[in-house]
Amino acid sequence: ARILVLNGPNLNLLGTREPEVYGTTTLEDIRSRLETRASQAGHQLDWLQSNAEHVLVDRVHAAREDGTAIILINPAAFTHTSVALRDALLGVALPFIELHLSNTHAREAFRHHSYLSDVARGVIMGFGARSYDMALDAALADLA
Ligand code: DQA
Repeated sequence: ARILVLNGPNLNLLGTREPEVYGTTTLEDIRSRLETRASQAGHQLDWLQSNAEHVLVDRVHAAREDGTAIILINPAAFTHTSVALRDALLGVALPFIELHLSNTHAREAFRHHSYLSDVARGVIMGFGARSYDMALDAALADLA
């Protein structure tokens, strides 16, 4: 099956961005690790990082047409702001797993609310780059 991984704003800076919060692994490191794991399991991994809300919304729409079975999404700051991303995910009615590197509940109050969590298949947060691996494992189990 096709598994789509979406990454929101500023995640392109991973590795050098606030390493005490987000670690030193780069997004490219994560992408290549997940791609290997997905292909070993017989699946195809599609990947996008964008700093633009509308690019992410458009990619969610495209997922309905391209055979995507499940979406993994780290919406980054859009987690706390984007009704549009929520509506897009509800609109295509594809299951999605929300994931975060940091435990957003242990951080500033404005990070405690997510526009996505109540409609997500599940949420994984707080394990740094490993949150991505865990989210992929959850997706693979759902697809099995
Ligand atoms: C994040 C948490 C968000 O609050 C923040 O805006 C991010 C990254 C995380 O992965 O921990 O950009 O989604």
